[in-house]
Amino acid sequence: MRGLAAALLLGPAMAAQSFDDAQIDALISRMTPEEKAGQLTLVAAVYENEPSDQERKPGEPTAMQRQLAEIREGRISAVFNGIGADWARQLQRAAVEQSRLKIPVLISVDAIHGFRTIFPVPLAEAASWDVELAERVARATAVEASSAGVAWNLAPNVDLARDARWGRGVEGAGEDVLLARRFAAARVRGYQKNNRLADDDAMLATPKHFAGYGAAEGGLDYNTVELTERTLREVYLPPFKAAFDAGALAVMAGFHEIGGVPAMVNAPLLNDVLRGEWGFRGIVVSDYAADHELVEHGVAVDDRDAVKQSILAGVDMSMTSRLYQRYLPELVASGEVPMSRLDQAVRRVLRVKRELGLFDKPYGRMSAAREQRLTHTPQTRALARVAAQRAIVMLKNEHQLLPLPRAGKHVALIGPFAGGPANLNGPWTVFDDRRDAVSVEAGLRAAMPDAALLSVTRGSDIEAPIAGGIDAALAAARAADVIVLAIGESESMSGEAQSRTEIVVPPAQQALAEAVAAVGKPVVVLLRSGRALALSGAVRDADAILLTWFLGAETGHAIADVVFGDVSPSGRLPVSFPQAPGQVPYYYAHKSTGRPPPPGPLQEYTARYRELTAAPLYAFGHGLAYSTIEYGEPVLSANTLPWDGSLQARARLTNTGARAVEETVQLYVHDRVASITRPVRELKDFKKLKLAPGESRDVAFELSRADLQFIGRDLQPLAEPGEFEVWIAPNARAGVAAKFELQR
Ligand code: BGC
Repeated sequence: MRGLAAALLLGPAMAAQSFDDAQIDALISRMTPEEKAGQLTLVAAVYENEPSDQERKPGEPTAMQRQLAEIREGRISAVFNGIGADWARQLQRAAVEQSRLKIPVLISVDAIHGFRTIFPVPLAEAASWDVELAERVARATAVEASSAGVAWNLAPNVDLARDARWGRGVEGAGEDVLLARRFAAARVRGYQKNNRLADDDAMLATPKHFAGYGAAEGGLDYNTVELTERTLREVYLPPFKAAFDAGALAVMAGFHEIGGVPAMVNAPLLNDVLRGEWGFRGIVVSDYAADHELVEHGVAVDDRDAVKQSILAGVDMSMTSRLYQRYLPELVASGEVPMSRLDQAVRRVLRVKRELGLFDKPYGRMSAAREQRLTHTPQTRALARVAAQRAIVMLKNEHQLLPLPRAGKHVALIGPFAGGPANLNGPWTVFDDRRDAVSVEAGLRAAMPDAALLSVTRGSDIEAPIAGGIDAALAAARAADVIVLAIGESESMSGEAQSRTEIVVPPAQQALAEAVAAVGKPVVVLLRSGRALALSGAVRDADAILLTWFLGAETGHAIADVVFGDVSPSGRLPVSFPQAPGQVPYYYAHKSTGRPPPPGPLQEYTARYRELTAAPLYAFGHGLAYSTIEYGEPVLSANTLPWDGSLQARARLTNTGARAVEETVQLYVHDRVASITRPVRELKDFKKLKLAPGESRDVAFELSRADLQFIGRDLQPLAEPGEFEVWIAPNARAGVAAKFELQR
């Protein structure tokens, strides 16, 4: 390869320039259709001694030997979910030293919330409302993964999700557009090292799943999506746009259909919006065998037809099915797919490989020594602890039960999530070492000077009672001063294909909670979950509730840090908690309707269920701390916002409690009258503010017309003059509104 030779001759600084567009085109002109189809083929990793190897006849190649042979033949472009610098080096050697055209192979992975060191699940990370933290976590993930040969992450998941039944909400940033946009951009910046993609410790980011996957009907994974173009543009597309604005050079098309057109063949989305309107230059990769699924959707006659339709609609690379590899050469030969389209897709792939520095430094990410040095570092582990602390949301804290004293009280830790290595990391980890994660029991024990004051009782399995479990729990509860219930969902209850019909604490654990609560001791609930849950009975009525999600490697330490008060909880809900499962999809930025239920007692013939008020149990943005913050009314710099001007909204916050805390101050807006009905509130900005006890500080936000835009009747963004309400508040339901007018 000329680029390689140039790299050797000229050194890295010059090498970055060494492979230009003309050379890419020259390379394409030398490729056979089979080699081109190979560049559009992403396959799963195999290893020596695969189980399938046991069945092979003497003399037959192993799975790994077959994969290496395919790379040498130029039939594979990228390999995913393999690990190890040495393993990756073998693949790269086959590609750049032994294949005809010496095109480097791309190693990819699903590092959704960490690679070896596991961080909180993305939804939990979003609960930190700490965008800079998310960037640091993504950076740390990229450092670990890239040291093991990975150049391409199949993340972040930027699917906005408003139906808590959908299991993949755990992979995203919650229900809100602004939060989802900011986290999408931060994660891309972290993975791609702020677009220094050619650096050895950067990896390509892949926002997914384009687009609207999170709006699956009934919250059922893979299900049909029905969205108006307006809602798609206003709610579901902006996180993708934010990811591309941050530089993401890949995107994954989803499994789902949108209004009858599967995402894989959705040319208006893939070509008109993504490439046309947004000018996206990167690659579109399919989801796992999603090309084949076009046959199941019933839009393609067979796999060959599926390939034809998806490449023509704009999907450049096929994941795992090998259908592009198999059918593209004949589809081009027959003229059904123009060679120019094949070349275009190949060009995109090669350009991305170039951006990643692979032509110049194909082995840059593949050093065993570097892998050893950068995996599981104490710094990464420390970051995992901070990330876990900041993800915890204190939903409730009656009588200031928390923090608990570290000594002098008997603590009964009860529940299926009290101890053991399972269910700490959460769904979507590929290469974590589960034994490595700190359980709640281990975390509390390490923090208590007299560990004899801690009793640990399982009490129940996750989804079924255990014989004598409740009796043992009752005995422990009676002997204790405070009960800490470690209950909630297992990690297999959220994630891909894990939609739930009832978003509740599983009944066996609810029964356990009811029984121990009846003992009459103070109860703290540590709620493990990958989604918003509808809490009831003794769980809802516990004195204190900490939402602890799946916090990853440092779970137990982070929980102990908060429980004993070393850290004041600072997390805020990125999703609303409904009162009952039947309310979902439930989200704060809903429309007013023509019959808005008034606050207070139930009123007939309004938009509410007959059993409940329309209020959430816990609002979006809610989260308590070990101090109290008072919000003054918002003060505006003017009553009017000029068309091309700006307006300042400020409020005075006072820490009226006894501890220094960090407050997440939220700015919401409501457009009173518009040509399209507007949500009752929309988050427009937020700021983190540290406040010492007794301290008062002003927090100020700037608003301009751009903040007030929506998608109009003609599907174009616009703002309309008129009256707006604005809140500076601790959550989406609180605060006093101020009013201003946008004037043209
Ligand atoms: C998921 C993708 C993932 C892929 C590869 C699919 O089932 O939907 O998000 O990247 O598998 O692991």
